[in-house]
Amino acid sequence: MISSASAATFDLSGKSVLITGAGRGLGRALALGAQASGAHVTAFDRDEALLAELHTLSPAIQTAHVDVADRHAFASAASRIGRIDAVVNNAMLIRYDPIDSVDDALLDQMLSIGIKGSIWGVQALLKHMDPQVGGVILNMASPTGERGFAGTAVYSLVKGAIATLTRTLAAELGPRRVRVNALAPGSIPTPGAVAITPIEEYERRTGRIPLRRLGHQDDATHASLFLLSDAASFISGEILHVDGGFLASA
Ligand SMILES: NC(=O)c1ccc[n+]([C@@H]2O[C@H](COP(=O)([O-])OP(=O)(O)OC[C@H]3O[C@@H](n4cnc5c(N)ncnc54)[C@H](O)[C@@H]3O)[C@@H](O)[C@H]2O)c1
Repeated sequence: MISSASAATFDLSGKSVLITGAGRGLGRALALGAQASGAHVTAFDRDEALLAELHTLSPAIQTAHVDVADRHAFASAASRIGRIDAVVNNAMLIRYDPIDSVDDALLDQMLSIGIKGSIWGVQALLKHMDPQVGGVILNMASPTGERGFAGTAVYSLVKGAIATLTRTLAAELGPRRVRVNALAPGSIPTPGAVAITPIEEYERRTGRIPLRRLGHQDDATHASLFLLSDAASFISGEILHVDGGFLASA
């Protein structure tokens, strides 16, 4: 269960936050948490039914049916928001494929959602932020982008690219008052994660997580709210691991 009230730990009052892939999972939890923290939240997702559910949960959240891979659709929907203070590049298709079965279509789809979609998100912030105030980018990385996990090549290379993009843009956009960070969640059984890794397998993995539990969506939400808030105003170029110590011990 998502506990949006418990997520209201950092103040985002008055900030306009765009979250992609917010129809379910970590994006939805963050949308509810950011809204509870005072933000004006706009949720992008390519699944209209999920957006309708989110609207029912929190009618104050603006929703837009957008495929983040589509540059023009992204730009057009972003231009209807008005000022944007922060963008969370969260949308991704989670799937693992052995390298033999990777074809053009799959590669194009994964790179387009994960890498192009994140770049369109950065461009939306730069176009619609107040340049006197600046803005915040939060990307979604993953432990898979930092170690070798067999059978995950395309997903992992997208996440490795996201880590690189985060560091590069922190250097490039800092002088424009834009902070760029990434969250690297691990072992949080969202709908997308459970679709490729059954919950029983997650539970078997718990023994390899130093904190001996799986992550909860609130764990990712709280860390994200911190990075989006002014409490993190001197933090840029960081990848914050929210994985119970898994990567540190891998
Ligand atoms: N769950 C984890 O443990 C975990 C670990 C590491 C990284 N992540 C990352 O966190 C992010 C969220 O993952 P999740 O677990 O909530 O996944 P999820 O599959 O449950 O949710 C992803 C959301 O993104 C949307 N989406 C997918 N493609 C889209 C597109 N082209 N345009 C717009 N929306 C699109 C989906 O409709 C869905 O609502 C992803 O970037 C994922 O790679 C998750």
